[in-house]
Amino acid sequence: MDKENTAVIVLAAGKGTRMKSAKSKVLHAVAGRSLLGHVLGTAAATDPDRIVVVIGPDMADVETAASPHAVVLQPKQLGTADAVKAAREPLADFASGTVFILYGDTPFIAAETLRDMLVERDLGAGIVVLGFRPDDPGAYGRLIVDDGGRLQRIVEFKDATETERAVTLCNSGVMAVDAALLFRLIDAVDDNNAKGEFYLTDIVGLGRGDNIGCAVVEADADELQGINSRADLAAAEAFWQARRRREVMDEGVTLSDPSTVYLSHDTSFEQDVVVGQNVVFGPGVSVARGAEIKAFSHLEGVKVGQEASVGPFARLRPGAVLKNGVKVGNFVEVKNAVLGPGAKASHLSYIGDADVGAEANIGAGTITCNYDGYFKYRTKIGAGAFIGSNTALVAPVAVGENAIVGAGSVITVDVASDALALGRGRQANKDGRAAQINADLSSMKDQAKKGKN
Ligand code: UD1
Ligand code: MG
Repeated sequence: MDKENTAVIVLAAGKGTRMKSAKSKVLHAVAGRSLLGHVLGTAAATDPDRIVVVIGPDMADVETAASPHAVVLQPKQLGTADAVKAAREPLADFASGTVFILYGDTPFIAAETLRDMLVERDLGAGIVVLGFRPDDPGAYGRLIVDDGGRLQRIVEFKDATETERAVTLCNSGVMAVDAALLFRLIDAVDDNNAKGEFYLTDIVGLGRGDNIGCAVVEADADELQGINSRADLAAAEAFWQARRRREVMDEGVTLSDPSTVYLSHDTSFEQDVVVGQNVVFGPGVSVARGAEIKAFSHLEGVKVGQEASVGPFARLRPGAVLKNGVKVGNFVEVKNAVLGPGAKASHLSYIGDADVGAEANIGAGTITCNYDGYFKYRTKIGAGAFIGSNTALVAPVAVGENAIVGAGSVITVDVASDALALGRGRQANKDGRAAQINADLSSMKDQAKKGKN
């Protein structure tokens, strides 16, 4: 099969009423990526010429999410064949090759499975249907095959006889169809059936009538779970997480308690990363070899360097870059900041919009004051600098290399390299004054008690 010649139609016009949501169903997320995003990702893996997403009325949100792909409107939901018909125009010049039909609410189909379907197309099938055998075949359409296992037709559950309902091979809805046949067959579909809908599934029987070869590829039922409700969404999330945790462990990552670690669709780990309990990876995180993410940390949009140590209880927000050997300890928040190799912020700090040099040491309670209520500013800390505990760095401000900032300072003026900066009230000690105060206050309290009695 010529790789150039594939197109994908994603059906997403269904309202998804059971989600009970203002948001279109296919924009709900699993592993930090919309259902549609998962499907488009799978589609992209077949390297198609083009992708067309079929939406229903009032789905501007899906249109935006589908960009840059073509989006067509199916004005009324008259059935899956009618939905495919809506994609005719953007595929008008797509005269030969394979058109895949995928569902926007079925996010886990493997690209490998689509490739298996292309193999059947190569072997001459005009229509390839993806079948599966769910634990409970329920109301799925049934794939009717002949004695030689060749697909003859698909019967919808509502239209099926008892014998047909006993068939366990079900229709997933996914198809790969010869582009030269698709719309001709679709035009022949009618709505003369139990639901009064135009069934895409009818193209198999129609194709067989024309002696077109039809084949089934069987996939694992897990790949074909569709999402119709919030409970389905949660089940899909749990399934995805369990599968991905196994994969990352297979790739050489230690998860101390796998079921408590939450990954995103794009979380990436190198070998010998260790992840403690209750760690959440939002989208956009990569963790390099040998780094350790300790318990109860939350990371999103972050690059963690080799042998770095994060947490416990660290919060790394978008734009945080931890170079090799960085240590970020408990109750430290880092946002849009680069920590150079070996830099340390071990306790209770906020490092936002900052560049921290190699081996710098950020004392407990240090805050970069990056925001004045209107604008954000950067803080620069030179390599080897030592920032004393409870320092406020009022950005924009720079501390030079190997400088020392005394604890409790409020730094508003740049500090030169190798300088000591102290920005705090001078301490005054008064000998004996505490004893005097204690004596005065305790006698006042005695007088007050006597007054009450
Ligand atoms: C369909 C199949 C059935 C299969 C099942 C698998 C048909 C006739 N039946 O049934 O054999 O077992 O999927 O889940 O195809 N859609 C539109 N426009 C429409 C109707 C549907 O875009 O007018 C979209 C939906 O958004 C959804 C997909 O097509 O993504 C499937 O539609 P749905 O109504 O769920 O089909 P089923 O009745 O479940
Ligand atoms: Mg359905």
